[in-house]
Amino acid sequence: MIGTIKKTIGVLSFSILCACGSQSATTLQGAIYADPSQPVERRVEDALSRMTIEEKVALLHAQSKFSSAGVPRLGIPEVWCTDGPHGIRPEVLWDEWDQAGWTNDSCTAFPALTALAATWNRDMSLLYGRSIGEEARYRRKDVLLGPGVNIYRTPLNGRNFEYMGEDPCLAAKMVVPYIEGVQSNGVAACVKHYALNNQETGRMTVDVEVDDRALYEIYLPAFKAAVDGGAWAIMGAYNRYRGEHCCHNKRLLNDILKGEWGFDGVVISDWGGVHDTRQAVENGLDMEFGTWTDGLKSGSKNAYDSYYLADSYLDMLRKGEASTETLDDKARRVLRLIFRTSLNSEKPLGSLNSPEHLEAARKIAGEGMVLLKNDNGLLPVDLSGMRKILVVGENAVKMMTVGGGSSSLKVRHECSPLEGIRAAVGDRAEVVFERGYVGDLSGSYNGVLTGQDLGESRSEEQLIADAVRAAAEADIVLFVGGLNKSDHQDAESFDRMVYGLPYAQDRLIEALAEANERLCVILVSGNAVAMPWVDRVPAILEAWYSGSEAGNALVDIILGKVNPSGKLPFSFLRKIDDCAAIAGNYFPGGEKVEYGESIFVGYRHLDREGIEPLFPFGHGLSYTTFEYDGLTADRSEMDRKGSIELSLRVTNTGDRDGSEVVQLYIGDEESSLPRPVKELKDFRKVELRKGESRVVTFTITPDMLRFYDPQKGWTAEKGEFKAYIGASSRDVRATIGFRLS
Ligand code: GLC
Repeated sequence: MIGTIKKTIGVLSFSILCACGSQSATTLQGAIYADPSQPVERRVEDALSRMTIEEKVALLHAQSKFSSAGVPRLGIPEVWCTDGPHGIRPEVLWDEWDQAGWTNDSCTAFPALTALAATWNRDMSLLYGRSIGEEARYRRKDVLLGPGVNIYRTPLNGRNFEYMGEDPCLAAKMVVPYIEGVQSNGVAACVKHYALNNQETGRMTVDVEVDDRALYEIYLPAFKAAVDGGAWAIMGAYNRYRGEHCCHNKRLLNDILKGEWGFDGVVISDWGGVHDTRQAVENGLDMEFGTWTDGLKSGSKNAYDSYYLADSYLDMLRKGEASTETLDDKARRVLRLIFRTSLNSEKPLGSLNSPEHLEAARKIAGEGMVLLKNDNGLLPVDLSGMRKILVVGENAVKMMTVGGGSSSLKVRHECSPLEGIRAAVGDRAEVVFERGYVGDLSGSYNGVLTGQDLGESRSEEQLIADAVRAAAEADIVLFVGGLNKSDHQDAESFDRMVYGLPYAQDRLIEALAEANERLCVILVSGNAVAMPWVDRVPAILEAWYSGSEAGNALVDIILGKVNPSGKLPFSFLRKIDDCAAIAGNYFPGGEKVEYGESIFVGYRHLDREGIEPLFPFGHGLSYTTFEYDGLTADRSEMDRKGSIELSLRVTNTGDRDGSEVVQLYIGDEESSLPRPVKELKDFRKVELRKGESRVVTFTITPDMLRFYDPQKGWTAEKGEFKAYIGASSRDVRATIGFRLS
């Protein structure tokens, strides 16, 4: 009763005050915008109605490196953003990139998003998003600047490790649960970098030219899935598209994102991605951050009032050169973000560095590791009767959570591969370490210190000789190499210069293979690499950048506690010229990059050209085996409103439990425009005990058959199609034809 009277008084006093000019109204007890029981949209409109144009403009640009203003007069809070896609960045000073030196902001580093994509498991993506969202929530952040879903167009892109691979369907299906998980904490996911940011060379200025087929069929689907999945924020990319910077690109932002897709969230610029006030005002940008930086360095002490969406925008408004409708739309979106996040009274508490988060990191990492080769069942390692295990390689000890650009983290602890192996083996065998090669000696990034001294006095020759000598005496050799987060490896702002492994690792691997045939090569990397030694090495494992629990997750696989079930989210090419963008000379050069390969990216190109990959998209072995049989369809023809149910039986024919990713590809047998031989359209990850069979079903719908016709839009042409059921894009276990009438 009392509550009702109070609310009535609140509403009455609110309506009286509104009658005498809402602008003079201040925060009112019981005002609609301040009432958490009110719907978000009512709160947004009420708050908007009380704001001055100065307050609205202040919402639209940064006030510090990672925050933008709220409305102090009305008690509406600021917006705080944080990197990154793999963990919560350490706190920085007001206008600095370097960490602020807090002692309470270490985080859990989750595996890189290539590892998440490689799980092909939507549940892992939800677990990931929920866990990282809890850490953002606990750190009182409103916007997580991630995930990234830019397509893996070439193996040289320095930031591929932050993304979800070469296929739009895989990226689209894997990104949505991550977003849902993050946002279940009242933290916005900010999906990036929209769009066509597929290289780091010249990233701030490169002007991408791409045909509409590739734009809609390859580069946009993951972003559209994110929007359809309810993402509250999208980050504009640095590069240009058709001459306009993506942070204020009319076609990408107004026409497609907000027009065709109906996006109701905020478009946030990349840091330093804004270059023009009128374009920023009119072409769909809502929040400007990081102006006058290159995203990594050259932080500037510019007064935030000189941002493009600050005083110069106010000036345009006061002169009547900009519409208040546009201003209100931007402010409305930012207010909506605030009511969805910081003023969301139902958001959970969050948590940081919990055992649950470490367990999640370990589980996701283990599910994401990809067993590329395992001749003679070298893995899992049977410790019985084993005396000496040799671990070789800098990546067995080097911290990988520090460095690589804005995704760099400060972790409470990072379990290295060597540490994990030693802890798990214990006294059951001697574990010996040899450095093998020297890679990157740096031990700090953005003020975060690894505390490691990787200094080495031995020559390359001596390092190899020492490793080879130790290999000759070992029962098994585990080489842990790959790339790292240093410049021109897997790092933001730098593309790789070569496709092969750096630091003479190929030579070392050859020498180790000569010295001991029981050799397993473990790659810690975010990109494919050449493997000239592939025929001489019986076992190869892609372990990715696996975060805080890297070593524990790796040894879970090595010793067989976890049966590998990861599948490649991108093709491993034999040589770089097998990449369409490289072969066609469409890669970095001048100011303009033309995506001349169009839709033929990754396995789409390899299939069309009949090129054999080193390891195909979707490939990954298990310690058990799976058989597929009995593929049937409930009909052989469907119309545009229909569907076809496929079903098949998958059996675990090996001697241990395991999981298999059953992949559905579809090929259009006859089309008016060129189409790939087949394209991934769905997948199922099934867990099967040894000897167990399971019926797996897929529903084929007309939208799976469409392609983007620049003249007609999305089109599904009647005619013959073929469904391919595969354990990878090249390991096709069954096919079945059907017709669209
Ligand atoms: C960087 C990156 C972006 C990051 C932002 C803030 O330059 O491109 O991914 O979130 O700036 O650090």
